[in-house]
Amino acid sequence: MTYLNPKTNSKLNTRQIRAFKKSKANRTLQMLTCYDFQTASLLNETALDLILIGDSLGNVILGYDTTIEVSIDTMVLFSKAVKKGAPNKFVIADLPFGSYASMELGLANSIKLFQQSGVEALKLEGAFPFELELITRLTQIGIPVMGHIGLTPQSVHEQGGYFTHGKNADEQEKLMNEALGLQAAGCFSIVLECVEESLANKITEKLSIPTIGIGAGSGTDGQVLVINDLLHLGKNDPPKFCTSIANLYETKKQLLNEYLK
Ligand code: KIV
Repeated sequence: MTYLNPKTNSKLNTRQIRAFKKSKANRTLQMLTCYDFQTASLLNETALDLILIGDSLGNVILGYDTTIEVSIDTMVLFSKAVKKGAPNKFVIADLPFGSYASMELGLANSIKLFQQSGVEALKLEGAFPFELELITRLTQIGIPVMGHIGLTPQSVHEQGGYFTHGKNADEQEKLMNEALGLQAAGCFSIVLECVEESLANKITEKLSIPTIGIGAGSGTDGQVLVINDLLHLGKNDPPKFCTSIANLYETKKQLLNEYLK
C-alpha cells in the first residue's frame, strides 16, 4: 500500500515542513538520498518524509572523487527518474557545483532542474550574500529552497578538506549568522552538515524552520543520510556518523557468488 502522510493523507508540503520542529512534533523529520527509479518506488511506500537527490550521486553512483564533476544535466536525468518513482513524496534536488555561479546561471539552471524533473524543491550549498539573494529570487518565482551550511562538499578545496565546522567562536558566530540569513532569505529548512553538535543544537533552537543534520548530532529537527551508507551498498565503510542497518554489499556479493558457482 502506498504510504501517505497520516495527518494530511497526502505528501508533505512546504507549509508543513516549515512549521516542523522536533520539540513540538516529538519525532525527527527523516530524509534519505535516492538516485534511481526503483529505490524511489520503494521509498514511496515507506513512512519517509523527504527524499533528496543529492549531488552525492557523483560519489556513490558515478564513482567521482568529489561532487564537483556533477553537471546540471546529470541532476535533471537522475531527478526525473526519482520523482517518477516517488509521486507521493516531497522530493528535493541538489543544484550542482557551478550551476549558480551567477544570478543569470542560477535562475536558468534552477528553472530547468525544477521544471524538467518535477521535484518539489531545490537545495543549494552556501550562504554568502549572493546565495541569499538567489534564494530570495527563487522563492519569489515559486521554487522552494533548502539551504545547506557547515561542510559543503562542493567547496571541499576552498574549505580545505572534510571536517567538523563550528569549533571556535568565530566559526560559530559565522554559522549562526548564515543560518539566520538563509531563514530570512526564504529557505523552508536547512541542512547542517558536520556542524559541531552544541552549535547545531543552538541553531535548531534559534530557527523557526527545521534544521536537518548529517554528522551534527541528534538534536537537529531532522536527519539526512546517504541511502548507500545506510544500507552499506558500497565496498568501503560508511562515515562514522552513519550506523548502517545492513551490509548489502556483502549480502549481494555472497548471493552472486552462490549463483555464479
Ligand atoms: O548530496 C548529498 O547527498 C547531500 C546530503 C549529504 C545532505 O547534500
